Amino acid sequence: MSTQTAPKKRVTIHELRRMKDAGDKIAMVTAYDATAARLVAAAGVDAVLVGDSLGMAVQGHDSTLPVTLDQMVYHSAMVRRGLEREGGRAHLVGDLPFGSYQASTDDAVKAAMRLVAEAGVQAVKLEGGADYVEVVRRIVRAGVPVMGHIGLTPQSVHKMGGYVVQGKDSDKAQQILRDARALEAAGCYAIVLECIPAELARIVTSQLRIPTIGIGAGPHVDGQVLVYTDLLGLDLSFTPKFAKHFAEGGVLVRDAVAAYVGEVKGRTFPADEHSFHSAPVRLVPAPVEDDHEEPQGGVMGAPI
Ligand code: KIV
Repeated sequence: MSTQTAPKKRVTIHELRRMKDAGDKIAMVTAYDATAARLVAAAGVDAVLVGDSLGMAVQGHDSTLPVTLDQMVYHSAMVRRGLEREGGRAHLVGDLPFGSYQASTDDAVKAAMRLVAEAGVQAVKLEGGADYVEVVRRIVRAGVPVMGHIGLTPQSVHKMGGYVVQGKDSDKAQQILRDARALEAAGCYAIVLECIPAELARIVTSQLRIPTIGIGAGPHVDGQVLVYTDLLGLDLSFTPKFAKHFAEGGVLVRDAVAAYVGEVKGRTFPADEHSFHSAPVRLVPAPVEDDHEEPQGGVMGAPI
């Protein structure tokens, strides 16, 4: 019997645009594996991002910089399989990681194609503004939709001097608006606005025909994206200001595992209902190759 859920109508780039036009908010979340993908799909998200935030959320790095294209392909394929198991409605986007698109447009096109062909994403996301219009054009021309990402761009953490809110003065705000318009003109179908003032996000959103997806950009955007581990409160030592814990998942997991440890040590787990039983079976001693062990026979199924 198949465990696949009946296919649902997939959210396409056109549907996302329709949602903006209709004023329907877009709910997006990151996921990095099939289990998470199944859960977020069952919860009804419109879009899933396999973000290079997996460098921090999954791999234990302190930045996104070490994440490789091979790893993005690997995680994106897992997420795609998970989404398919839940009917495949959510739009799936894969991040182009640091080093996969900056050196040349050829690299960028090949990287985007790998994510589509090998992992099955519907679109790729890349960080950068007006400097990346040629890269965006080439990838779109190759048939792959591109989501832009401006404001705080974690792959440029060293250039920005840390993970700091962007666009707070008028020159920087003006540049972000220019970047957004340049990306739209180059063919992006949506743009992530990360950690910029809500007032600026409102202006950018009102001046674009394509949807904006905010993270740390306030409410006046067309949709929101949150990192899975932030949404669930899985990291007990880190909560960015813009992230809301919709559950205290870290506390839940820690306490559940502590309860398991307690029951193993206290001999209350496994209980009878977790154990298998058979009718009594007489066993003869098994031949032993290790001469340190005494042969043991016994009666299986007899009370111990
Ligand atoms: O990598 C990521 O998860 C992202 C989101 C924060 C937008 O780029």
